[in-house]
Amino acid sequence: MFDALVDHYRPHLRLLGLDLAAAILSGLLELAFPLAIAAFIDHLLPLGQWGLTLWAAAGLGIVYCLNAGLMTVVIYLGHKLGIAIETGLRLRAFEHLTRLSFGWFDRNETGKLVARVTRDLEEVGEVAHHGPEDLLIALMTFAGAFALMVWLHLPLAVLTVVIVPLMVALLTIYGGRMTRAWQAIYGQLGQFNVRLAETLGGIRVVQAFTNEPHERRLFARANEDYRRAKLEAYRLMAAAATLQYMGLRLVQVVVMVAGAGFVFAGSLSTGDFVAFLLLVTVFFRPLEKIAAVIETYPRGIAGFQRYQALLAEVPEIADAPGAVAAPALSGRIAFERVSFGYDPARPVLREVSLTVEPGQTVALVGASGAGKTTLFSLVGRFYLPQSGQIRIDGQPIERFTLASLRAQIGVVSQDVFLFGGTLRENIAYARPEADEAAILAAVRAAQLEDLLADLPVGLETVVGERGVLLSGGQKQRVAIARVFLRNPPILLLDEATSALDRATERRVQAALASLARGRTVLVIAHRLETIRHADRIVVLEDGRIVESGSHEALLAGGSAYRALWGGLGDGLGDGLAPPGAGLGAEARPVQAVGRGST
Ligand SMILES: Nc1ncnc2c1ncn2[C@@H]1O[C@H](COP(=O)(O)OP(=O)(O)OP(=O)(O)O)[C@@H](O)[C@H]1O
Ligand SMILES: [Mg+2]
Repeated sequence: MFDALVDHYRPHLRLLGLDLAAAILSGLLELAFPLAIAAFIDHLLPLGQWGLTLWAAAGLGIVYCLNAGLMTVVIYLGHKLGIAIETGLRLRAFEHLTRLSFGWFDRNETGKLVARVTRDLEEVGEVAHHGPEDLLIALMTFAGAFALMVWLHLPLAVLTVVIVPLMVALLTIYGGRMTRAWQAIYGQLGQFNVRLAETLGGIRVVQAFTNEPHERRLFARANEDYRRAKLEAYRLMAAAATLQYMGLRLVQVVVMVAGAGFVFAGSLSTGDFVAFLLLVTVFFRPLEKIAAVIETYPRGIAGFQRYQALLAEVPEIADAPGAVAAPALSGRIAFERVSFGYDPARPVLREVSLTVEPGQTVALVGASGAGKTTLFSLVGRFYLPQSGQIRIDGQPIERFTLASLRAQIGVVSQDVFLFGGTLRENIAYARPEADEAAILAAVRAAQLEDLLADLPVGLETVVGERGVLLSGGQKQRVAIARVFLRNPPILLLDEATSALDRATERRVQAALASLARGRTVLVIAHRLETIRHADRIVVLEDGRIVESGSHEALLAGGSAYRALWGGLGDGLGDGLAPPGAGLGAEARPVQAVGRGST
């Protein structure tokens, strides 16, 4: 772990060297001041000469200026080093995160991941910068001040040092307690952030259920816990600071009394006496630094360990060794006895075998939770089957690099996710280099023209966080426009037209039909009338293909398919969704197939 951290200094060795050199020099000057004062009192003062005194003062002034400059350098360079390391770590953490697969994200909360990339690494940066510098300077001034004190007056030095174990004990006890207090604070802060994000992110649900008072209560509790945790930390901080101050002053008083005795006895000069008193302060200063290091170290180390754990996460899904870029695919998709479960103990798909010829449109129907969306996820290798194989154009999909495979698959998913930018950015996300003409063509194809005409700034309209400023149907058409722009040979449409009114749906269907020409299309449909002309309809039941054939054949011979049409199947009798209800697809009642019988 330590080696790993040291590795991160390697690119910044020059900076580290400069920082440490300046810090050491400044520390040495700090040590030299008491001696200069001693010389001044013992040798210059008795001479009674203004000229020399002023020269000495000027010299001291210059040295002070030098030291001030050095301190600026240390603060600036030290932090520069810290943030250089922090920035590097953050970039690597983010890059790694983008490589991890769906399954991993299923298991990790976004809020915590955000904290890892932001707060954790900030702590690491702090320690990375203060750690070596503070430790070095602390040790140096500690040892240096002690050596000078011994050199000035041994018995007095011994007297001073007696208090050190006491102070160290104090620091250790309070340091440990402070660390725990800070951990509690950070724990509370995590809770707090989660609360805040949940409530604000879900404010529409909160208000729809008029649960504001409930949310306020929950927040007030988290807020109060946070206050308590912080208060405890500050109580400890106050106690530690008081004890530390008292310890230091106590030593000063003892040294003053004992020193005065030595001065009276003639074994100590006045100048050395003053220098000694000044050195006592220098001697104890590192203890404060060490206390600060004790406090920040555990946090930084914990952050760094979490960072390492993150980097150690091997992406479940990556390019197989020897994977090649997929050629332009014609789109023959074959599932061969594919079984899969998000949790291998609970299979979602069981031995699914299905072949879709290039240019065919195959519709997937079945009850909610049957595994339709899951089957789609496997085609783009977002999850890996536990057994069986998926081939495209005869090649197992793992032969292809992920990027080249996914580039040829267009997906319109059940819950459309839009980014907080403009309409243009959201559509062009499919092909960032697309020109205006291509974007407008996609807009037309996805039947978004009317919407665009209504918007004062057209494509530059900001769609809000996750696209909240658009209706469900509009969002879905943006998703469709993306696929038009991408123009892939394989289309996966997950209930692609569910949130559209009948008129728009018909137009989008027409557009999709023209898009589908010459492409392989897998479409999941809940409104069965939209897929009656599919080349083949496959009925999925509990992860198994139970029926397959044309609409007419299935109506004649398939009981499961007939049941879907009749609304007689499992949990299918609701048929509540009004056509084109502007709800997000996920919010729709399952399987609005009851309407099929009207
Ligand atoms: N990311 C996930 N992690 C764990 N389980 C999941 C995940 N996604 C879906 N499931 C489970 O897998 C099963 C199949 O889900 P899937 O989304 O494939 O159903 P579906 O047929 O698309 O249903 P719907 O018609 O409601 O969209 C469900 O039992 C669901 O709870
Ligand atoms: Mg689904």
